[in-house]
Order: sequence, then structure tokens, then C-alpha cells
Amino acid sequence: MGENSILERLWNSSGPIVLFGASVAGRKIRGLLKKHNPAPQHIVFCDNYKHGVEPITNTAIISPNELCNYKDAIICICIMSPALHEEVRTQLVNFGFSSNQIIEYPVLAEAFKENYELLWSDMEDSYDWTQNQPWIAEMSKWIDDDDHSVIDYGAGACYLKQCLRSDVTYISTDYIARSDETVVFDYNKDPFPNICADVGFMAFSLQSAIDWESLLAHVCRASNRKVIIGNAIMFPGSETLILVGGQTNFYSDAPIIQTMEKNGFVLQEKKIAKWGDGSISELAMLLFAKC
Ligand SMILES: C[S@@+](CC[C@H](N)C(=O)[O-])C[C@H]1O[C@@H](n2cnc3c(N)ncnc32)[C@H](O)[C@@H]1O
Repeated sequence: MGENSILERLWNSSGPIVLFGASVAGRKIRGLLKKHNPAPQHIVFCDNYKHGVEPITNTAIISPNELCNYKDAIICICIMSPALHEEVRTQLVNFGFSSNQIIEYPVLAEAFKENYELLWSDMEDSYDWTQNQPWIAEMSKWIDDDDHSVIDYGAGACYLKQCLRSDVTYISTDYIARSDETVVFDYNKDPFPNICADVGFMAFSLQSAIDWESLLAHVCRASNRKVIIGNAIMFPGSETLILVGGQTNFYSDAPIIQTMEKNGFVLQEKKIAKWGDGSISELAMLLFAKC
């Protein structure tokens, strides 16, 4: 089955579409299916561990036992981890679903990427704004008593603000004005704003920058003391599995570190955290100090 025909089958499906995996991948696929006009009407999640309603998309989650009511459905395995989606495929075949009814995540992800220019805005509605909070809290520990102001680039829900001392001036930037205080700029389009602070903070937003080197040069000019960056580092071969709008893939933190050095900032400390089950990418948290 060609990639276009996979999407056409899904867009035009009059029967139910079951997204197996009510998590990051499932939410993204649901969001992309819903973008189409007319959108498929009957989409549900199925999950081995979750049941009820998926809170971010407000969509029903059925249990595998309930799949007997969905005999004619198209089942999309929305699980990024290669080991786990193989397990679910076997589970579905054992339930009696035919190979023709099952579409696996790598094929789905590839089909969307081949046919659509995915923007961050396509992902907004399926994004869990709480998912990075532990890492933002961890990175915020690098902001010390001598730091009195912070610029948060791609601030999103501004969680960093909650991690700061009350006497630290917080400046949020994003291309969407999520509060009256947001300095709005699209780092793929607009001129860099004339702002500066002791600390430049980028939590998981560098990957949305097309010209990420120019953005980092700006962040370095705007930061008086340090720059803190959190970014996903992809494992080679896993890039097609991550559906993120406007994604710049990093396969190591070396290019980020080198670009920071060119702009007068050296790596002081680095922490690595596992992302998901650890099979697709890891998270690099990097602290840079001005030379
Ligand atoms: C993955 S979210 C991270 C949000 C937040 N820093 C966090 O960790 O929860 C990416 C953020 O970057 C912002 N963003 C995406 N593309 C952007 C662009 N071209 N210019 C400015 N901000 C952008 C999005 O609006 C979003 O808030």
C-alpha cells in the first residue's frame, strides 16, 4: 500500500479508526487525522494500560477486550517504540484482525511526513504541556542567586516562571502570545527582539528553529551570564518515528556545543535523561557559561 493511499483510506474511512496507544504518538496521529476536511468521525483510542477518556484530546479509550465491537475498524498502532509496537501487532493478530486492517506507526509517521509540511501549530492541540515540567524544574536549578533575569525562548505554558525565585525577572517569548507578557516573535520569520537578561533558557524549543545557529547566536548576544538548553537528541534511525512540526533533528549535542563556543559560551555541565522508554531519543540538558 502506498503512503498516499494509506492516508486516503484513513481520511475516507466511514467505519471506526482505533488508535492503539493513548499517548504522545496516538494524540499526534489523531490531531493530524482531525486536520482533514471532512475529518474521520469515529476515532477512539485503545490501550493496554489506560481506560476512560484521554484528557488532552477528550477522546474515549477502550480496553483491548472491547475491540470485539470494532471488528471492521482500521487499527493504527500508535506506539513509537519498535519493540512495543511489534508486541501489539501480535496481540491484534491474535484477536483476529487481518494485516490489511493494521497500520503500523513507522508507516503512518512516514506517510504524514511525506505528504504534509508539519508545523508546530499542527501539534499544539495534541501536546501535553506538563510533559517537560520535571526537566524544566531540573534545569532551573542552574539559575543561582547571582542570576536576576531570565528569557524563556519558546516558553509555551511558562512553567519555568513557577520554578524561579520571586525576585527574578521572567521574560517569556513565543510565536504565540500565550499571555499579555509574552514577547511575540517567530524565530523562523521575525527579526530577533531587542531584549537581554542574565540567563537565556530554551526548553525543547530549539528543534523548531530552521536556522537554529542564528537563533543560538542571538540567544548568546542576549544572555549576560549563562544559557541553559534542553533538547531531544535522536538516536539514528528513529527520526521518522518522531512527528514534530518543523523539526530540526539533532543526533548528538556536539553541534549545539560547538555553535555555543563560537558565540562565546562554554559547556559547564550536562545532564542526560531518558525520554519515554529510552528507545527513540534521550534528553540533553546543557548549561553554558559566558567565557
Ligand atoms: C515543545 S514546546 C516547548 C514549550 C516549553 N518550553 C516546554 O518545555 O514546555 C515548543 C514551544 O516552542 C514554540 N515555538 C515553536 N515554533 C516556534 C517558532 N518558530 N518561533 C517561536 N516559538 C516557537 C511553541 O509555540 C511552543 O511553545
